[in-house]
Amino acid sequence: MSQAPSTSFVQHLNFLARDASNESAALQAAVSLGLLNPLGATPVPLSELARRLGANVRGVRSVIEPLVALGFVTLEEGRGYSLPESTAAFLSDASFMSRLKENHDGWHAVALLPQAVRTGADVEGRDVLGWYRALFLEPQVSAPNARAEDFFDRSARNFARTQALVTAAELGLLERWVKGPGSLDALAEALGVPARSLEVLVKVLATMGIAQEVEGTWAFTEDAARMLDANSLPYFQRALPATMAYWEALGHLDEAVREQRFRLDLRDPQTARRIYQENASRISGIFASHLRLSRKAAELVRGMRSLAGARVLDVGTGSGVWGAAFGLADPSTHVTFLDSPHVLDAVRPHLAKLKLEARSRLWEGDCLSVDYGEAAYDVILLPQIIPALPSESLPGFFAKLARALRPGGVLLISGYLLTDRRDGPLDALYFALRRYVSNEGDVLSMPEFRALLNPVGLTSARGFDLPIQQVVVAHRGEHAWPEGAA
Ligand SMILES: C[S@@+](CC[C@H](N)C(=O)[O-])C[C@H]1O[C@@H](n2cnc3c(N)ncnc32)[C@H](O)[C@@H]1O
Repeated sequence: MSQAPSTSFVQHLNFLARDASNESAALQAAVSLGLLNPLGATPVPLSELARRLGANVRGVRSVIEPLVALGFVTLEEGRGYSLPESTAAFLSDASFMSRLKENHDGWHAVALLPQAVRTGADVEGRDVLGWYRALFLEPQVSAPNARAEDFFDRSARNFARTQALVTAAELGLLERWVKGPGSLDALAEALGVPARSLEVLVKVLATMGIAQEVEGTWAFTEDAARMLDANSLPYFQRALPATMAYWEALGHLDEAVREQRFRLDLRDPQTARRIYQENASRISGIFASHLRLSRKAAELVRGMRSLAGARVLDVGTGSGVWGAAFGLADPSTHVTFLDSPHVLDAVRPHLAKLKLEARSRLWEGDCLSVDYGEAAYDVILLPQIIPALPSESLPGFFAKLARALRPGGVLLISGYLLTDRRDGPLDALYFALRRYVSNEGDVLSMPEFRALLNPVGLTSARGFDLPIQQVVVAHRGEHAWPEGAA
């Protein structure tokens, strides 16, 4: 029987696939915006920092919050941001800072890596393979201190690691390694690329713990082989196109913060249509595993109130996986699935398969402008939709939803939940950064949710940890919380 890969390796690879480029973008934008320059030992409030930079508050916050979580900036509650000595030390090291800035220049070049490996030549006048060799395979100039080295690695190498992974997937190298090892020449022939350029990619993947050389052949490391098999590889690779969809926008994060110009603007209907359609088809592919999660949430609500005859509304339904769980939780529920028309096409086949069609309604509309009516629903679901909505629309949106909830009604919000100080978890902050760079909404903390829920009468609210997501459940105080509620 094969052993499971180590948890830390799984986290490492998932980080490279999803978040490493967000991390590099945040650190690079902090440097290019000069965001850290006004900071010292005395805390500077966020609004003052944004004012000094001539930038947008929300944008500055989405860049600086991950830096706080990583320990490069200190947040003193109620006072603002300051710099720990270790960060101040490397910021004032001119040669280190110029090396850092030089490497940031690689953002758009590394996206050309697949082409560089295929041709073995310069692409658009850039020696992309040489850039990788210099950064990963040749002796490195040492940084002034360990924190500086860490900053450099995250800022200058992480996005390049993601691109190496994307290239390995795109060229079919990961798929080839699932079948077993091969010599460099055999791999190059199978992939139809020059062995010399493939060698650079393979050796970079070795520095990332993905590949290893064994007696003249190259193969997955043991951990990579355990994590990436014929079943799991397609699932893993599905995250990569979504990462690439944000690549250009993240490369211009500084511009988005300074000028509020968004290269990937989800408030543009055409762009939103394309991205949400891709998202719905991607999450449809993982419907079964998502359903296990949403069914747990349905159980949680059923532990608080009966679902017999319940009218349920799933807002921003995507694949329909949350509403479907409530459809399955009791044979007498009726579920309304609300999203835009092109997304609802992805819901129909799931409802047919689960035999839920007769108790379902598909509702095409914009959740911010439709009329929800009064006392129409017992349960309203907001699964991963809040970060997609402009923050300024939320008070009015919650007021409409509260009006639509029947007595005893429950509102359930799922997705990421930030700590009360908004200083973690890191993956939630990176998710929030992507929302900023695509001109969407924000990820919120429990106090921020309470500030929206209390004024509309949903005065009882708690957060719960489910596997991979958190949920916030809110009501008017009519229900007892289940045992062990946070
Ligand atoms: C991140 S997806 C979440 C999908 C699904 N709820 C889930 O948790 O898997 C966000 C969904 O909200 C929908 N959405 C975004 N803005 C919307 C709006 N103004 N009105 C209706 N749906 C919207 C998108 O089409 C997309 O399907």
